[in-house]
Amino acid sequence: MIDLTAISIALHAVAAVVWVGGMFFAYTVLRPALTMFEPPQRLALLSAVFERFFVFVWIIVIALPATGYLLVFRLFGGFAGAGAYIHVMHMVALVMIGLFVFLYFVPYRHFRAAVVAQKWPAAVGHLNTIRRIIGINTILGLVTVIIGASGRFWA
Ligand code: HEM
Repeated sequence: MIDLTAISIALHAVAAVVWVGGMFFAYTVLRPALTMFEPPQRLALLSAVFERFFVFVWIIVIALPATGYLLVFRLFGGFAGAGAYIHVMHMVALVMIGLFVFLYFVPYRHFRAAVVAQKWPAAVGHLNTIRRIIGINTILGLVTVIIGASGRFWA
């Protein structure tokens, strides 16, 4: 029988896979491969990639906590009954979401404006900040996936 808990954990896992997988691909595969292009092509392409990917990330930063809180209450009756791994997942998730919101409204906004204005050196500067934040969030995301998927066996 499929119930709300099953649907929530399925959506939660899919949201985590899409977000963390997308960042992992961007950071470790796409970015190094793009060094073969000149800055104008590379930066315009990355701008188009971010524009599409961040639509999904906005959906995910709403879906992950929504399904996560639902699971906390349905599986453990609230945070008081949840294991330490849930608290760690929750805290790390809030940091990841905070970093994404900052990334979107500060360096990404400046990056997009610099690309539109064809100010390539400025765009590279903002892209470096975006790259650092995505690198941090990729590591935090991988750690959170490990904690979320395995925590029930050790915490
Ligand atoms: C508000 C933030 C979050 C809350 C409250 C939350 C809560 C939960 C809960 C209650 C579970 C079920 C644990 C169990 O069955 O033992 C879970 C599983 C999981 N969470 Fe989270 N979570 C949050 C954010 C995240 C984030 C940001 C990620 C990864 C990027 C993530 C990845 C996972 C994974 C991979 C699982 C295991 C799914 C499975 O069993 O198939 N969670 N989470």
